[in-house]
Amino acid sequence: SSNQMWGGRFAAGPSAIMQAINNSLPVDRRLWREDLAGSKAHAAMLRDCGIIDADDAAAILSGLDSIEAEFEANGVPDRPDLEDIHMLVEARLAELIGPAAGRLHTARSRNDQVATDFKLWTRGACREAASAIVALQQVLVARAEEHTGTIMPGFTHLQVAQPVTLGHHLLAYAEMLQRDVSRLHDADERADESPLGAAALAGTGFATDRAATADALGFAQPTANSLDSVSDRDFALDYLGAAAQCALHLSRLAEELILWASPPFGFVKLSDQWSTGSSIMPQKRNPDAAELVRGHSGRIVGLFTGLMITMKGLPLAYSKDMQDDKAPTFEAHDLLMLSLAALAGTVESASFVPEKMRAAAASGFSTATDLADWLVREANVPFREAHHITGRSVKAAEDAGCDLADLPLETLQAIDPRIDRRVYDVLTVEASVASRTSYGGTAPDQVRAQVARWKELLQPL
Ligand code: ARG
Repeated sequence: SSNQMWGGRFAAGPSAIMQAINNSLPVDRRLWREDLAGSKAHAAMLRDCGIIDADDAAAILSGLDSIEAEFEANGVPDRPDLEDIHMLVEARLAELIGPAAGRLHTARSRNDQVATDFKLWTRGACREAASAIVALQQVLVARAEEHTGTIMPGFTHLQVAQPVTLGHHLLAYAEMLQRDVSRLHDADERADESPLGAAALAGTGFATDRAATADALGFAQPTANSLDSVSDRDFALDYLGAAAQCALHLSRLAEELILWASPPFGFVKLSDQWSTGSSIMPQKRNPDAAELVRGHSGRIVGLFTGLMITMKGLPLAYSKDMQDDKAPTFEAHDLLMLSLAALAGTVESASFVPEKMRAAAASGFSTATDLADWLVREANVPFREAHHITGRSVKAAEDAGCDLADLPLETLQAIDPRIDRRVYDVLTVEASVASRTSYGGTAPDQVRAQVARWKELLQPL
């Protein structure tokens, strides 16, 4: 049989394959709340503008309430014959209230309808992701507070560079995540215009009130160009871009946990809850959660890229290609939410191993810069020359098979007579870390101050 929505023009129904390629209900059923909210706002506006009468509006609104209760109780039914969630709701409304249902679609199209539903959903996703990020930040800050004085090696090129504190290192991720929160907030703000009422592409001849539906749906105002309204998926790309960058940050943290949990590092022991064993190697303890977070980040970046490519060649206004906007966005959001929760759990339950970290920090001549700085400060040596003297001292320690702090004073003075015994005050990792008191530096005092700032900032509203 021909389609009930456009049967007037069509004599035959779609082929089974046409139906299969066209059907988006398995994906967009997830928009049912947004779809009902949009329809209610639209019906009330049509009534208030005198476009439909009060009785029809009341029947439509109560029918939509019944559908909401049904979906709430039993989920969205499977209807392979109905193309999408919009068709499904309208068909169910017709079953419930009869011909008045046919008045709901006045001055509206599925094009502005789907843009509105999806935009509402995406704004919700921005807020949900931002809260999950804050939850991870809270874990990072709590662990940082325990470890403001725990010394670990700081790396560049993954070579031991200078000692830092674990608290400082963990708070670096809190900073990255704060920028992600800010990007999600921007995405939400930028999506603050309602496409509803743009109709198919050109606007409508009915005397509608788009500001009223915008307001009812929590948008600041209606979109200003009907063609743009139904063609725009920037809001989804904004979300995906922010999600991709957040996933990138999660991947870097995951990578560090994986590395630190590797026995040659041994900086951290991941809890049983967030690790798996091997079916063949009894000694194994694998950081699977962190590895999956690292893996999922690749998928999230791919989903962002995918929608960019879907959109990039499309002429105005709506094209059916755009139906492929929801699957990547939903999938990316689900992966991001799981990743955030998994990392929060992993970090919260991890046991850090300060002895291992300190030992690694003390190896690799990590206080060489402190020796050079001491020469500049205490002996007025130009930094380039101090760098050279320090290089010779490192070589002497390497030859002797000891750390810089273990070199006898005579050895150091043979390299440069301006060195005296006060230098030993700066050669330990503790002294090195304590000296880095510049704003944002790794000194425990600075890190404690940053922990206090974060606790203030992350206070639950
Ligand atoms: N299922 C469609 C989508 O998700 C709804 C819009 C359909 N509009 C149309 N003119 N066929 O994009």
